[in-house]
Amino acid sequence: MEISVSIGNILESEADAIVLNLFEGVTEPGGATGAANQALGGLIRDLIAGEDFTGKFKQTAVLYPREGIVSTRLILVGLGKTEDFSLNRVRLCSASATREAVKLGAKTLASIIHGGGIGGLNIPDAAQATVEGAILGNYKFTNYKTGDDAKSLDAFTLVEFDTSKQTDAETGANTGQVIAESVCLARDLANTPGNDLPPAILADRVSEMASNVGLLCEIFDEQRIKDEGMGALSAVGQGSVRPPRFIILEHKGEDPEAAPIVFIGKGITFDSGGISLKGGDGMWDMKFDMCGSTAVIGAMQAVARLKIPHRVIGLVAAAENMPDGNAYRPGDILHPLGEKTVEIRSTDAEGRLALIDAIAYAARYKPAAAIDLATLTGACVTALGNDASGLMSNNDDLVVQIHEAGNRTGEIAWHLPILDGHREQIKSDVADLKNSGGRPGGALTAGAFLEAYVQDFPWAHLDIAGTAWTGSAKPDTPIGATGIGVRLLIDFLRHRT
Ligand code: BES
Ligand code: MN
Ligand code: ZN
Repeated sequence: MEISVSIGNILESEADAIVLNLFEGVTEPGGATGAANQALGGLIRDLIAGEDFTGKFKQTAVLYPREGIVSTRLILVGLGKTEDFSLNRVRLCSASATREAVKLGAKTLASIIHGGGIGGLNIPDAAQATVEGAILGNYKFTNYKTGDDAKSLDAFTLVEFDTSKQTDAETGANTGQVIAESVCLARDLANTPGNDLPPAILADRVSEMASNVGLLCEIFDEQRIKDEGMGALSAVGQGSVRPPRFIILEHKGEDPEAAPIVFIGKGITFDSGGISLKGGDGMWDMKFDMCGSTAVIGAMQAVARLKIPHRVIGLVAAAENMPDGNAYRPGDILHPLGEKTVEIRSTDAEGRLALIDAIAYAARYKPAAAIDLATLTGACVTALGNDASGLMSNNDDLVVQIHEAGNRTGEIAWHLPILDGHREQIKSDVADLKNSGGRPGGALTAGAFLEAYVQDFPWAHLDIAGTAWTGSAKPDTPIGATGIGVRLLIDFLRHRT
């Protein structure tokens, strides 16, 4: 979708639809909405007086102006109560209005910058959130729908009246575009089913993206993975005829010698459970078991395109977890890169195995911080549901930074403990550790397992099993992969000094 900023009066826009807004409880609209109300002879005021449209958060109303407004459609979106207003709400309102426009078959949409006027938000942030909402609200995954004439927008324009705000609006719009397009990249990869995106193809797609945006990219094939000593990732991948890959992305930032931030993603392109085979019900969703990796891939694209000043490394451990004659088995003892040996209790606890080799590999960068993302445990879904990811860490400052980024972006990260009891649960009689600690505290023993391979650097783990995909459409997310993590990681970086 084409994104632009235009200076002028939105009532004169020739777009197929224009978007204006209203706070809940306002009876006399001001700003652009007030101007539209006047141009329409008080129509919007009547709409409010009749209580058909109250400005409730995300509520929409469509008007068809006869005069005074050039566009054929005017979409009003409710911003909700002023006291609840936030950038995240701007994004969701913009997405909600965009969905409405798409539904109506509009191809071009013009919107004011929500919150830039009486909302009191600064223009770059408000413009960013409005554009993010528009791009995410316009998102659909239709690659596998033959002959689908999926309705979607071709162009979205932010219209700002005040010339002095042009540069700020453009800066924000560009940031929003880069971030939202990176979320869409994450969604596209994650929504692509296991048959079409095995580890090697994923690696190809990443390498192509990297060369487009100027990231360094190195890919280890299965032999190199073995040679590097990544015995855990290698074991997870050995039951599939489609071999594993380890992907390294690097953004140099302003100081290529600086201690980097490292992002690590679980990239299980399909998780059957392996020999500890899963039940058939819902197994199809395990094509999403790579959503940690797609968050990292999307975030790395955004890091490069936004020229983030920090040095940032992205590591992806990609494998397909399948049962076959060569598959690893319960009872096997593995030698991961991080040395501590692992007894396999369940081949379905494969994500943590793929991750520990990546975490151990990260140590060579002496990271300023490392964050891993993984659809790691069903237990995390049981604990937190679908509205928060689990956050575990060895560093309180990092917890605060990630928690705050989560609150700003609406990608909520909920701090969970790793206690000595959890560390006890994963001790093995025959090896140093075992890869499953049983049912109690399943998300936390998984966290404890990862922690055992962290060498003395600030580390955090996000269990996104409940948040990585959704079965119910929201204004900014259709059914399928949410792309969670991309906006959170970028927000985290942009707020880190
Ligand atoms: N990918 C799954 C976790 C998962 C399950 C994510 C459901 C999203 C929805 C992971 O590899 C897994 O199978 N974990 C096991 C661990 C257990 C065997 C210790 C689980 O959660 O049951
Ligand atoms: Mn599994
Ligand atoms: Zn898994």
